[in-house]
Amino acid sequence: MNADVLKILARRSVRTYTRDPVDDEAVRTLLKAAMAAPSAAAADPWCFLVVRSPGMLVRLAELLPRGAMVAEAQVGIVVCGDQQRAHRHQLSYMLQDCSAATENLLLAASMLGLGACWLGIHPDPVRVAEVRKLFGIPPAITPVAGVAIGHPMEHPPARTRFREDAVHREVW
Ligand SMILES: Cc1cc2nc3c(=O)[nH]c(=O)nc-3n(C[C@H](O)[C@H](O)[C@H](O)COP(=O)(O)O)c2cc1C
Repeated sequence: MNADVLKILARRSVRTYTRDPVDDEAVRTLLKAAMAAPSAAAADPWCFLVVRSPGMLVRLAELLPRGAMVAEAQVGIVVCGDQQRAHRHQLSYMLQDCSAATENLLLAASMLGLGACWLGIHPDPVRVAEVRKLFGIPPAITPVAGVAIGHPMEHPPARTRFREDAVHREVW
């Protein structure tokens, strides 16, 4: 397989991290990758909250039932969306754009040798409200996903979950 495509397959969810610091330049690179993602009509309705404070990372972890690992991460990034900035002001475009940005961020993290994991926030209304409150995010902005980032303590193998039965050719 092509070496660059293999890098995509090497991206895995990493949920344990060492205590080694993640420098600001790496975080900036992740944000640049996120903001290189496709976006409907190039509306770029995303914004990113970067969290380094250990206390706030612990509090974020407490709000996310499957996000305990962010308490041990060096950096947490909350990917947010502004529906009013999205193409046709539509929620779906905002969510699709934020998801594309999140995946780009995760791929860049993997390529930098960092470990990262997507943390679900939207569409759970309680999680959205509590994350908003914790960080003082304005009502018009929706926290869509969290990403926990650190140097990896585990190295899950590259893989694809390719299924031939998930593919339809020419017609259904
Ligand atoms: C919308 C979404 C929400 C997710 N939420 C969580 C989460 O809250 N906690 C977690 O540990 N993983 C979460 N994941 C990661 C998935 O569990 C993971 O991507 C999946 O098991 C496939 O494994 P892989 O990422 O190693 O390929 C989420 C992924 C997506 C796309």
